[in-house]
Amino acid sequence: MILIKNISKTYDGITNAVDNLSLTIQSGSVFGFLGPNGAGKTTAIKMLVGINTPDAGSIMIGDESPLAVSTRENIGFMPEEPHFYDQLTGLEFLEFSSDLFKNSRGKSKTELEEILKKVNIYEARHSKIRTYSKGMKQRLGFAQAIVNDPTYIFLDEPLEGLDPIGRREIKKIIETIKEEGKTIFFNSHILADVEALCDQIGIIHKGRLIYSGPVNQFRKDMSLEDQFVKTIKSL
Ligand SMILES: Nc1ncnc2c1ncn2[C@@H]1O[C@H](COP(=O)(O)OP(=O)(O)OP(=O)(O)O)[C@@H](O)[C@H]1O
Ligand SMILES: [Mg+2]
Repeated sequence: MILIKNISKTYDGITNAVDNLSLTIQSGSVFGFLGPNGAGKTTAIKMLVGINTPDAGSIMIGDESPLAVSTRENIGFMPEEPHFYDQLTGLEFLEFSSDLFKNSRGKSKTELEEILKKVNIYEARHSKIRTYSKGMKQRLGFAQAIVNDPTYIFLDEPLEGLDPIGRREIKKIIETIKEEGKTIFFNSHILADVEALCDQIGIIHKGRLIYSGPVNQFRKDMSLEDQFVKTIKSL
C-alpha cells in the first residue's frame, strides 16, 4: 500500500505546488493521477519516489519511507522528460540502469534484451540513443523503470509522445505488470487510457486534491474526459 498523509510542497517560498495532499493506493492497483498543467502532479510523484522531500506530511511506500534504500530498490520511476546519455546505445543505457541495482537486482544481458523486446525497441538496441525517435526514447524510459523488477512503479506521463500502436503496447505492458501484482501510479492527460487502465483515480487542481476514488463514481454517466473538463471548468 502507498500511504500519503497531508504532504505539501512549496517552491521558492511562493507556489503551493502540492497542498495538503492525502491519498491511499492499494497494493496491486493501477492508480491514475490527473490534473491540468501545473496542477502539481509531477511535484507529487517526485516526492513519492524520494527525489523531492515534502515540506510537511509523510509518505509510506509499503512499510517504509521513499528515502529508505530498500524502498528505492523496489521502486521504478519514469520521469516526465527522460534524459539519456545520447552516445550510449539503448542496450548500454539499460545495462547502466541495471548496474545501479547490481547488489540486489542486476540483470543478465539476456534478461535486459527480453525487457527491450517487451517494450519493442529490441531491433534498435545497438543504435545510439541520439538516433532514437521521441517514442523510442519513451519506450526506453519505460524499460528503465521496470529494469529492477520493482513492486511499485511510478510513471510520469508514460503514454505521452507515443503513436496509437505504441500507446496500445505500453497499455498492454501496464496491464501485464498489474497482473503480476505490481502497484502502478501514473500521471496522464490521456483520459480514455486512464479510463481503460485505472482502478482508482485522483484529481488534483492547484495543488489540492479534488477527487479520489473509483473512475465510475467520478464520471457518472459521462466519459471521464467530459466529466473532468466539466469539473475543472466549474472550479
Ligand atoms: N522547480 C520548480 N521551481 C519553481 N516552481 C516549480 C518548480 N517545479 C514546478 N513548479 C511549479 O509548481 C506547480 C506544479 O508544477 P508540476 O510540474 O508539479 O505540475 P504538473 O501537474 O506536473 O503539470 P504538467 O501537466 O504540465 O506536467 C506549477 O505552478 C509549477 O510552475
Ligand atoms: Mg508534470
